[in-house]
Amino acid sequence: MSKLLLKGGRIIDPAKKVDKKADLLVENGLVKQIADNINSKADKIIDAYSMVICPGLIDSHVHLREPGYEEKETIKSGSEAAIAGGVTSLLYMPNTKPVIDDPAIIDFIKERQKEVGLADIYPVAALTKGSLGNELSEMQFLADAGAVAFSDDGNNVDNGEVMRRALEYLKLVNKPVLVHAEDGSLANGGQMNESAMSTKLGLKGSPKIAEEIIIFRDIVLARLTGTRVHFMHISTANSVELIKEAKKEKLPITCEVTPHHLLLDDNMLENYDSNYKVKPPLRNSEDRKALLIGLKEGVIDCIASDHAPHALQDKEVEFEYAAFGISGIETMFNLVLTYFEKDLGLSKLIEKLTINPANIFDLEAGTLAEGKSADILVFNPKGKVEVDSSKYFSKGRNTPFNGRSLNGRIEMVIKNGKIVFAEGKIKPLSKKV
Ligand code: DOR
Repeated sequence: MSKLLLKGGRIIDPAKKVDKKADLLVENGLVKQIADNINSKADKIIDAYSMVICPGLIDSHVHLREPGYEEKETIKSGSEAAIAGGVTSLLYMPNTKPVIDDPAIIDFIKERQKEVGLADIYPVAALTKGSLGNELSEMQFLADAGAVAFSDDGNNVDNGEVMRRALEYLKLVNKPVLVHAEDGSLANGGQMNESAMSTKLGLKGSPKIAEEIIIFRDIVLARLTGTRVHFMHISTANSVELIKEAKKEKLPITCEVTPHHLLLDDNMLENYDSNYKVKPPLRNSEDRKALLIGLKEGVIDCIASDHAPHALQDKEVEFEYAAFGISGIETMFNLVLTYFEKDLGLSKLIEKLTINPANIFDLEAGTLAEGKSADILVFNPKGKVEVDSSKYFSKGRNTPFNGRSLNGRIEMVIKNGKIVFAEGKIKPLSKKV
C-alpha cells in the first residue's frame, strides 16, 4: 500500500466544480480522498499550502514523431517534455513515417509508451490510407487496436466525397474525426497568412477562407451524418462564428485553439523567423481577439499545444523550405496561465485543459474524483519561469517564446500515484527505455 498525502493546497477540479483548500490523499495509484483535514499516515507527506493542485493536463494535439522522425522527437523525449509541461495524457497525431494507418503501428506505440512509462498516449489513426486523402483507412481495425479518434492532421481531406464516406463510416465506429481544416487548392502552398504582410515579405499567402470553407463543409457533413467532428487549431474569427452557429444547432461539433494562435500574429513574421511558421498560419490581431472571446464564451472547448518538434536543420533554412510548427508542450500551460488567467479565471482555463478534452475523446482522465487514477499537477501560481528552449526535454527547440518570463512554476507531476516530476527533473518509472 503506497500512500501520498498533499496537505493544504488549493484544489481545482472543474469536472466536480471543486475549488477549495483541502488535503488530498493518494493510495495505490488512485485518488482516495479529498477533505479538510486528513490525518492518515502516509509514505510521503507534501506541504502544498502555497500550491494549486489540479488534474494532470490532457493535450489533445501532439506530434511525437516516432516511428520515422526520431531526430525530431521520440516517445521518450516527447513523454518527458509532456510531463515537464504538466501533461499526463495526450493524443498522438498520426503523421509519423509510416503514418498510423495500420494496427501494428498502434501496437508499437503502445509498447514504447509502456517502456517509457510516463504520460498516457492515446493514438489517433489516419483517416485515409497514408493520409493521402483518397482511400479510407481500416477504421474498425484501428479503433479495435486502440485509436481514440481519426485524422489526417498536417493535411486536409480535400475530396468532399471521401470526407462524407469517412464520416459515415466513423458514425458506425463511434469515434470522432479531428479536422485539419485547410483546403489544399486555396492554401496552395502558402507559407503564411495571406495579408499585406505576405505581400510585403514576398511570401505566398494561405487565405483564411482555406480554413473557413472546410469548417463550413464539415459542419454540413456533421449535420448529415451525426458524426462527432472536432476542429483542430482554429485560427480565424469566422471559424469561431461558424462553430458558434453550429453549436447553437446542437450539432456534435467541438474545437480547440493553440496558445500560439491566441498570442501571435502575422506581423511577427517581419524578420522571416521560421519559428513563427506554423500551419494554419498566424493570422491578425482581430482573429486573435475573436479566438479569445470564443474561448471565454465556450465556443472553443479546449486548449491544445499542437506540439510540433523539428530538428534544427528543418527550421534553420530559407523560410520557404522551413518546416511548419512550434515545439509547444513545455510552454502551453505557463503561456495560458500568464496571458489568460485574468480573462478566464483559473478554473475555466484548467477545464479546457482537462475535463473538456477527456469528455470529447472519451478518456478516463481529467478529474480528481475519488477512485480515479491519481494524475495530478501541482504548481506554484506565484512562481516564475523563463523560457529557455536549450533546456527543453523535447528534442524540438523550435519556439518563438524563448526568453519570455512566464507565470506559474510546475513543482510536481504525479502519474498513477507516483511522482514523475519534481525539482525540475523527470523521475522515470521504468529503467528500460
Ligand atoms: O504547424 C504544424 N505542424 N501544423 C500541422 O498541422 C502539422 C505540424 C507538424 O506535424 O509539424
